[in-house]
Amino acid sequence: MGRGDDANILRGVPGTALTGLWGRPFLPLDEVLADVGVAPDDLAAVHDEICLAYASLPVDYTGGSHRSMGITPPSRQAEAVVDYLEVLRALSPADWQSFVSLADDPADFEDVDPADVGEERSVPLSRRHMLWLKVRFGVYFPWKGYLELIPNQKWTDKATVEGKRFTRNARTFLPRTCALVERLPFVGVGRCNIMGLEAHDHGTVHRDGDPDEQDAPDEFITISPVPGKRLFIWDEEHRRAHVVTGSRAVWFNDFDYHGVEAAPFFRYSVRVDGVFTDAFRALIGARYQ
Ligand SMILES: [Fe+2]
Repeated sequence: MGRGDDANILRGVPGTALTGLWGRPFLPLDEVLADVGVAPDDLAAVHDEICLAYASLPVDYTGGSHRSMGITPPSRQAEAVVDYLEVLRALSPADWQSFVSLADDPADFEDVDPADVGEERSVPLSRRHMLWLKVRFGVYFPWKGYLELIPNQKWTDKATVEGKRFTRNARTFLPRTCALVERLPFVGVGRCNIMGLEAHDHGTVHRDGDPDEQDAPDEFITISPVPGKRLFIWDEEHRRAHVVTGSRAVWFNDFDYHGVEAAPFFRYSVRVDGVFTDAFRALIGARYQ
């Protein structure tokens, strides 16, 4: 079965406003992965290595402009608090100069409109930009423990596998994690990163595409080597969260709204995007369709 061959996969979740996958808000993958030789213990085994990498590597921030990107549900607009694109659009000329001075290369910002800066736009934020926006304006970056293992410029590049490779830092500090990702049942991996949240932070509710424009779900696996990160799929119509619990590996329809609950400790997951093998797609289908 190829990607997009089964329109039934987007039939909707009964009693909810969710599109879901085969009528479910999310799919636990632990057992299907075990069927292809990736045991739950294999998913847990990378935790020590990831903790050491967090202690050794500079981490990035991500998120921080979900509201201005127009991808947050109406009932949860306020939880994004201060959104950086809204801040950038309102900067005084003097503050814009301060902002540009914090670029890795200020020349990149010549003739750039502030509305073209940041995630999914033409010029990315530097690490110094993010810190300044946080302390100067109170911008909320939900994921302050973001490690890119296979970077992408744009979200829409994540299913493209040609030319993608692990960073040198990933190969050096996370060899077991890279090896695990390479064993996952993808034809190719287009994007891989570790999404960490600091204690008390929450992941702002958003969706990664418009369900009205979706003809097939994006294929990915999100892995939580240890419990504690409470991802939920958000039914905006019924104001109800469907929390993922009890699974180390899940797939969900990221065109549905989703977020992460706050908790008083650091949490992370490893997200791997790409193109599933036909065999794995058939295995998931046999279990859930
Ligand atoms: Fe997302």
